Amino acid sequence: MVSKKMQEALNKQLNAELYSSYLYLSMSAYFQSVNLAGFANWMRVQAQEELVHAMKFYDYVNESGGRVTLGPVEGPQAEWKSPLDAFEHTYRHEQTVTGLINHLVDLAIEQKDHATNNFLQWFVSEQVEEEASANDIVQKLKLVGDAGGGMFMVDQELGQRVFTMPAAPAE
Ligand code: FEO
Repeated sequence: MVSKKMQEALNKQLNAELYSSYLYLSMSAYFQSVNLAGFANWMRVQAQEELVHAMKFYDYVNESGGRVTLGPVEGPQAEWKSPLDAFEHTYRHEQTVTGLINHLVDLAIEQKDHATNNFLQWFVSEQVEEEASANDIVQKLKLVGDAGGGMFMVDQELGQRVFTMPAAPAE
């Protein structure tokens, strides 16, 4: 059973994952508005993945005898200066989320809560991927600069991303 303090921290992270989903959906809408359908697709898939992250916290709190409580989700930014600006924001945001996950791990260790620590390890690995994929696109966009042809190619590439529901963990 999770402690009250851990329950509160996990509920807070559930909210942060919902905010991430909201932020990326807002970026998807921005890309749609500037006719970059591939970028919009990538962000839409990202928003769906963040919902999966949120539900992992939801399920874990319930399964570990805690009580899920949902707070208000902050409204995200709506406009960005360029695709690079949006992806630099994404990269910074993922670094922030990594910090939040690391703090949760610190709390689990402090409380000798091995189950929660074990649950969080999936997120520790996931954050390495999240940061790497955002940074990869930042670097590509820096290379492309203002070249329309290059932007078209990146848009085509990001349009290939598909959402796949992660397999349920073994019981
Ligand atoms: Fe839920 Fe993008 O980390």
